[in-house]
Amino acid sequence: MTTKTARRQADYGSIETVLGIESSCDETGVAVYRHGHGIIAEAVYSQLDHAHFGGVVPELASRDHVRKLPAMVADVLKQARLDPPNLDLVAFTQGPGLAGALLVGAGFATAYAQAIECPAVGVHHMEGHLLSPLLDAEPPGFPFVALLVSGGHTMLISVTAPGQYRLLGETLDDAAGEAFDKTARLLGLPYPGGPELARLAEDGDSARFDFPRPMTDRPGLDFSFSGLKTHTRLLIEREMPAESTAKTTDCNDPELHQTMADIAAGFERAVAETLLIKCRRALNATRMHRLVVAGGVSANRRLRNTLDSGLSGQVYYPPSTLCTDNGAMIALAGWHRRSMATRRQPIAVRPRWPLDELPGLAE
Ligand code: KG4
Ligand code: ZN
Repeated sequence: MTTKTARRQADYGSIETVLGIESSCDETGVAVYRHGHGIIAEAVYSQLDHAHFGGVVPELASRDHVRKLPAMVADVLKQARLDPPNLDLVAFTQGPGLAGALLVGAGFATAYAQAIECPAVGVHHMEGHLLSPLLDAEPPGFPFVALLVSGGHTMLISVTAPGQYRLLGETLDDAAGEAFDKTARLLGLPYPGGPELARLAEDGDSARFDFPRPMTDRPGLDFSFSGLKTHTRLLIEREMPAESTAKTTDCNDPELHQTMADIAAGFERAVAETLLIKCRRALNATRMHRLVVAGGVSANRRLRNTLDSGLSGQVYYPPSTLCTDNGAMIALAGWHRRSMATRRQPIAVRPRWPLDELPGLAE
């Protein structure tokens, strides 16, 4: 056994340089993180082919990860000017996510780690999002309340340290990003709908139509977005003439475009203000002052403005390139989970993995 291998097995405390691999859905993300330096190199490939199908096709996602991962890892290591044996740890997304897509990342990561004789660790995708604001130039201190808003999750979490999480509330039905995507689809916008809807909303008057602020009139920190989606569907059916099949942003009818933009803006404002009300409530309940917002929807401008102006404490976000899925957040979470790394990782994934089943880390 080489000295280096012996060191790796004995002392995970010396782990500094981590390769992160994300493949839970339709983004292939690869990055190298070095403790004390941050992200050294990264690459994300977004599988836009799913746009033809209006949503992610799991089988296509898996195949694309297989196609992209090896070359992306080679490229990122080259960018980082790093030889594979200089990696101390390989971190990969173990769940939650699409089973096949996760398996590609897990299989690749564990095989790669064994080939270069380095330990590997499986990471919870949402812990990756949750910790991603730590990669910002002005990272938050602990403790904080985290609002995680992605395509699959909407959660409020009390965070006292990395690995010390208490779920405060979550969505009872659709996630915030899912509500954006479904509403965008109703408006005839291409997948992925969230950013498209946000772009359309820039031209809109958010006060023209009334939208509910779901579950804000009763106590508690849970969310529900399916009623808002139904409200929007009924509004679209009422306001957009049935004969108009060209419900797209590039439609030539200025009146129709304005109506679509007004609906998009009203919907977006309703989501942002609902999240604001719940965040304020969570901060009051925990007596915390910092809010961290992460996950794909944290890229949304109106949400950021609403939270920044509506809360008295400081609000923290990931760097804008790290809001949606990426390898950097997985590398960082892997570094925090380094004590759980092993040299013979089984290729096991957890497509469903509640965050509160994640083992705690010592403070
Ligand atoms: O975190 P993420 O990349 O993947 C999951 O873990 O789900 O989040 C993707 C979600 C999608 O629903 C996408 O539409 C939404 O984030 N999203 C946005 C914006 N950018 C991404 N939603 C609203 N406004 C945006 N600017
Ligand atoms: Zn995500």
